[in-house]
Amino acid sequence: MISEEQNLIYLDRNEYNFEVAPLVQEVIQIFSPDEFTHYTRCFQQGIKSELSQYIADVYGVSEKNVVLGYGGENILKEVIHCFLSQGGRERRILIPTYSWWYYKSIADEVNGTTLMYPLYEDGYTFRYDIPEIKRLVQSEKPDMLLLASPNNPTGNSLTLDEIKDILDSVDSKTIVVIDEAYTLFNKRDITYIAPLIKQYPNLLIVRTLSKFYGLPGLRLGYAFMGDGLKPFDSFSTMYLGFNKLSEKIGIAALQSTDFYAEKGDWMQQDKERYKQALNPLPDFKVYDSDANFILIKYPIEMKEALQTAFSAVNIVVKFMNEEGLRTHLRITLGTPAMNSQVIEVIKQVACR
Ligand SMILES: Cc1ncc(COP(=O)(O)O)c(C=O)c1O
Repeated sequence: MISEEQNLIYLDRNEYNFEVAPLVQEVIQIFSPDEFTHYTRCFQQGIKSELSQYIADVYGVSEKNVVLGYGGENILKEVIHCFLSQGGRERRILIPTYSWWYYKSIADEVNGTTLMYPLYEDGYTFRYDIPEIKRLVQSEKPDMLLLASPNNPTGNSLTLDEIKDILDSVDSKTIVVIDEAYTLFNKRDITYIAPLIKQYPNLLIVRTLSKFYGLPGLRLGYAFMGDGLKPFDSFSTMYLGFNKLSEKIGIAALQSTDFYAEKGDWMQQDKERYKQALNPLPDFKVYDSDANFILIKYPIEMKEALQTAFSAVNIVVKFMNEEGLRTHLRITLGTPAMNSQVIEVIKQVACR
């Protein structure tokens, strides 16, 4: 058996550090393995699965506009492969400068060309440079524009007006993907999704059960697709259905939104605690975050001391090492006790 290092607290991978919702635990306990002896019968009813229908009902969209995948990761990979691999000419994707490394890596897999648009620092946040995004969309005519909201690792998000402003400037031939993996921690409104995918047929909004719903090990992602993404529909659909237990867990998790919202509120309170404790320290800066992690700028000469101090207490945090973010730490929100410990470690090193 592969053993995981039990004594380490991983606050470097944006996982969930609280209990699983009672309803999720219950469906796992009552699930009958007999369900695994046959494929889903959903196709006879003209839908992909119970989960896609449930999501469609909650979000007020047609089931045909819901996509399911093995995590948001899998949906992102499929959509990028689908639209960037159609041969004949160079295919381009525009992504944010500071963003999840995986976007470029999956575009590389199909020889897509990745171009980056800027994000700039503004006080305690990062902002998308919207005029520059529009300019690049006009000049480069990308096959795909990827927006991440909230963005990883910066934690900032786009407003609905900003999203619409960008979408209005994009040619309908460009597929726009919004990665909303880190949504719902702060902003819980979901009513914009249905009108947005209706108004913009070239839009795909990707979400996951891994972050807000705290189930990264389940590997379930979902997305909302505009009617213009038909080629992607057949690319992504599993015609023999999806994992039946996962689907039931997914529904139970979505039904437990209030339970998870409470955890999101706790995280929000602890982000404030981080700010109050660390922002007064010289050359430290805790950024605003709409996600389950925070980005912290620290004086680079403290890097080694911080690494040693964290490893002494068995806590793993992410020391960023990319252009423009080399003096930054990204830390997943843990339980209040874990967060207190992280704050103490940083304060002790800073005040030596
Ligand atoms: C920005 C971003 N998008 C999407 C994902 C995908 O997560 P999952 O495949 O677990 O849904 C991650 C995972 O860390 C992420 O950081």
